[in-house]
Amino acid sequence: MIERIVAAQNILALEFRGRVERAARAALSARGRCVIAVPGGSVAETFFPALVEADVSWTSVDVIWCDERVVPADDTASNAAVASRLWLRHLRPENAPSVHRMPVDTFPSERGAELYEGELDRVLGRSGGAIDLALVGMGPDGHVASLFPRHAAFTTQDERRVRAVHAAPKPPPDRLTLTLSALAQSRTVVLAAFGTEKASIVRDVLDGESTAPAAVLLRQCRSAVVMLDPAAASLLDAAP
Ligand code: 6PG
Repeated sequence: MIERIVAAQNILALEFRGRVERAARAALSARGRCVIAVPGGSVAETFFPALVEADVSWTSVDVIWCDERVVPADDTASNAAVASRLWLRHLRPENAPSVHRMPVDTFPSERGAELYEGELDRVLGRSGGAIDLALVGMGPDGHVASLFPRHAAFTTQDERRVRAVHAAPKPPPDRLTLTLSALAQSRTVVLAAFGTEKASIVRDVLDGESTAPAAVLLRQCRSAVVMLDPAAASLLDAAP
């Protein structure tokens, strides 16, 4: 079942905050920990500021990344830097999450992927083996995280949770990404897309027979919410 929400971006940001609050309450009640995976891009820019006021016991939350670009930690292209700028550094120190940045600036990508794999074993090991809520954006080609169509890191079955990506079609070329398997095992996936440039891929992924990573993720995951602004939803059939 894929839930669809079409609304203005500021409304979607508040809706996402509510989803995070509910996911955290459920996870803390069930397991005492909550794992949230976040991306970069326009979804991060749009949703992160709303999380500053979220009613969440962040001290019991582990924040991990869906993907990260291989750039210096202070580079404006860094997904972790965007999260810090718009969300994490605005939280009260006494109510801050455990933040697990992908190790992209200290090791070659393959080594970084191995290290993050081990960190996720520890983090997810205390959270029932799955991410509680994974937020992903979607590129015009239907990529999610740094899983690009026809790219080696995009495989539907993968025993790994983390892969290195090279020659990515979206710059920068080198990245680390969660695998489709890791994302699909999440208890909830929230996929968000905004703008007319996403309208055709949104239609193909939701109404068509797309084999793009976003479509495969939505078909494989346990529970999905798709959040679209009216422009991104403009080519969808009227009735979901
Ligand atoms: C990244 C993101 C990536 C992003 C999509 C969509 O590191 O680039 O994690 O997966 O979500 O490329 O980006 P936009 O929403 O900015 O088009």
